Amino acid sequence: MERLLSTQEVADRLSVDTKTVLRYLRAGKLSGSRIGREYRIPEGAVESLLRRTNPTAAAERTAVVTAVVNQKGGVGKTTTTFNLGVGLQRLGRRVLLVDLDPQAALSASAGIPVAHLTASVYQALIDDGIDPRGIVRETLSGVDVLPATIDLAAAEVELVSMTLRELVLRDVLDQLRSRYDHILIDCPPSLGLLTINALAAADRVIIPQQCEYLATRGLTLLLRTLDKVRARLNRNLRIEGILPTMFDGRTTHANEVLGELRTAFPGQVFDVVIKDSVRVKESPAAGLSIFDYDAGHDVAQAYQRLAKEVDHA
Ligand SMILES: Nc1ncnc2c1ncn2[C@@H]1O[C@H](COP(=O)(O)OP(=O)(O)OP(=O)(O)O)[C@@H](O)[C@H]1O
Ligand SMILES: [Mg+2]
Repeated sequence: MERLLSTQEVADRLSVDTKTVLRYLRAGKLSGSRIGREYRIPEGAVESLLRRTNPTAAAERTAVVTAVVNQKGGVGKTTTTFNLGVGLQRLGRRVLLVDLDPQAALSASAGIPVAHLTASVYQALIDDGIDPRGIVRETLSGVDVLPATIDLAAAEVELVSMTLRELVLRDVLDQLRSRYDHILIDCPPSLGLLTINALAAADRVIIPQQCEYLATRGLTLLLRTLDKVRARLNRNLRIEGILPTMFDGRTTHANEVLGELRTAFPGQVFDVVIKDSVRVKESPAAGLSIFDYDAGHDVAQAYQRLAKEVDHA
């Protein structure tokens, strides 16, 4: 089904104000249907207007970069990066996943033979003479991956002495952005220099959070870091949402924590909740996303809903 855009979204795409969009609609330059006071405008109509009026603008459209971040380990960052990425790909988007964790769990989950890799995101970060396009790997699930190897652990140290050390990943992704609609970065479980590079390169963050006690305390620290990054490195960084993961609705405990999260961070917690499921745990060993491992599964449907919700610029 074709995506429908709001007047504001169309204004952003065309780099004009909403009044101009309304003028285009009235003049028949754009087609759209009116719902109440709002318009719903098919994405194809916008693309075709862009091509007619400014052929280079459409070609230069670049990916939205989303960092999947939480300094706490084992909260579902890698699982979310992979399955959300495949969910976006299933909507027809071109998707690149960046594995920024030396553990390389994302690369392995996507079926990349990590032990045999000769080049990884590490080389792209450390050697600015290397074209990152040559390092990107295609995967069976349809998403591309900029893989990691254990070398990446050294980058955390080596980056320290580089000029503009926080902005190295941003430069690497600038060389890849025009090829994709979405770039998702799987961050390591720390707030070290690799994560800071991800935050400096990203347009927005998604924060997976397990529903357990003290969840809000860890998030407060993360939000403070995001504020600092916004002040010093990346003014436009925004929080797309906090994603409750591994939720076991049968326990009062999980329900209480979910309630606390929604109270502590009003409007910032996604409606979509990712349930705890052994099928999700099994799927990486098979090198498959939950969509390919168990298509009808609740968690597959939840990641697909999340993909629809975050599939905008
Ligand atoms: N919805 C889920 N239900 C059950 N298990 C899950 C779910 N999501 C993730 N897991 C499992 O929990 C473990 C941690 O998940 P994952 O690796 O995605 O977290 P992470 O935040 O990337 O961890 P790290 O901080 O170590 O990188 C993995 O074994 C994963 O398979
Ligand atoms: Mg991980």
